[in-house]
Amino acid sequence: PSAQNCAIRASFLHFIANPADVATPADSYQYFADGLLVIENGLIAELRDYRADDAAKYPQLQDRSGQLIMPGFIDTHIHYAQTEMIAAYGEQLLEWLDTYTFPTEQQFADKHYADKIAQFVINELLKNGTTSALVFGTVHPQSVDAIFEQAAAKNMRLIAGKVMMDRHAPDYLLDTPESGYAESKALIEKWHNRGRLQYAITPRFAPTSSAEQLTLTGKLRAEYPDTYVQTHVSENKNEIEWAKSLFPECRGYFDIYQHYGLTGPKSIFSHAIHLTEDEWQAFSATDSVIAFCPSSNMFLGSGLFPLKRASRDKVRVGLGTDVGAGTSFSPLQTLCDAYKVLQLQGQKLSALDGFYLATLGGASALSLSDKIGTLAVGSEADLVVLNWAATEVQQLRMSNAKNLEDKLFALMMLGDDRNIAATYVAGHCVYDAANLSK
Ligand code: GUN
Ligand code: ZN
Repeated sequence: PSAQNCAIRASFLHFIANPADVATPADSYQYFADGLLVIENGLIAELRDYRADDAAKYPQLQDRSGQLIMPGFIDTHIHYAQTEMIAAYGEQLLEWLDTYTFPTEQQFADKHYADKIAQFVINELLKNGTTSALVFGTVHPQSVDAIFEQAAAKNMRLIAGKVMMDRHAPDYLLDTPESGYAESKALIEKWHNRGRLQYAITPRFAPTSSAEQLTLTGKLRAEYPDTYVQTHVSENKNEIEWAKSLFPECRGYFDIYQHYGLTGPKSIFSHAIHLTEDEWQAFSATDSVIAFCPSSNMFLGSGLFPLKRASRDKVRVGLGTDVGAGTSFSPLQTLCDAYKVLQLQGQKLSALDGFYLATLGGASALSLSDKIGTLAVGSEADLVVLNWAATEVQQLRMSNAKNLEDKLFALMMLGDDRNIAATYVAGHCVYDAANLSK
């Protein structure tokens, strides 16, 4: 039987709106306690309540009763090349980059090394229920070939790009305005819209690009308006002062990107923790997007992202693990950190807010909500299958849960990769925890 044409019985949860945007949170999602999902040719063909005659109607029915299926998680910010230096001790952003990050990224000049880590990372994403990601490579074009090749082997919807950086890093990691432009252009021609892959133009952050490089980056962006832009903004106080001092003609950090034509609906800015009023307005006005990376923000001591401010201003936000400054590949663990980041600001992240952020919110942040992040008919069948309880503590807590939202909240706070039973990409089961030991 083709795994691409299949029917699954389970509980299903997916969002149809941002819980922050609807009158009552219950209007934001659909839940089927005993549901049936039909997949045809990698797309969702049907989602409804399970009926008694379905077992006869679908002889190949996959019975996952008791498990919870959601759209696969979407990680809107990760540096795959930083995996081996995850949890590097003691530094904040700028010192952390110099001490740990740059030496590690140097190794991706070697394609075989890049292949090895790319394969590891793709497996790790799937094992954590993440089916799509927006990924930083390194300055080396072959680092992007490596991650795209591994993603293509699983038919994942993945967006990635080569870092552009021509100053303020070790010589061995620098490109030039011309080589950064030419190499990025060649990668766009090679990979953008090939299968489910898309390209993101990737200036690391303003401090590591000269004005000449940002000018050519803006030119490339204008030549390929369908591609993405990914970069960092306003993560750390010292970084902000440095960026502003390097571009004194600009009104602020975010304005540097605006000045060079790099903002807009397909531009994703990581962190954006310390934005000014003007910068919040500029985010709204340009419909630019933020990747919220709570684990990283706490690990590097960067600060607390004001998520409620973003929803008030209707700025789209996705969830990012930001490995290796983030300390986990798990969107569940990252949501647990997000909850705590909001608590420290007197704000709340409900389970619905959280799971929205990790699914439809991420898809909307990437302008892909017509394809992923949802179980709506016609969308791509990327799924995460969750066990409600994977530990004794989780089991005890779940047995004490009052209602669906309470169960989801406990899952969000206590869950991790042990709760991921299986992951499907375009209708294919690409990870199954039950088969691991076989
Ligand atoms: N800003 C510029 N580069 C990086 C990076 O690699 N990680 C984080 N967290 N912030 C950055
Ligand atoms: Zn980052």
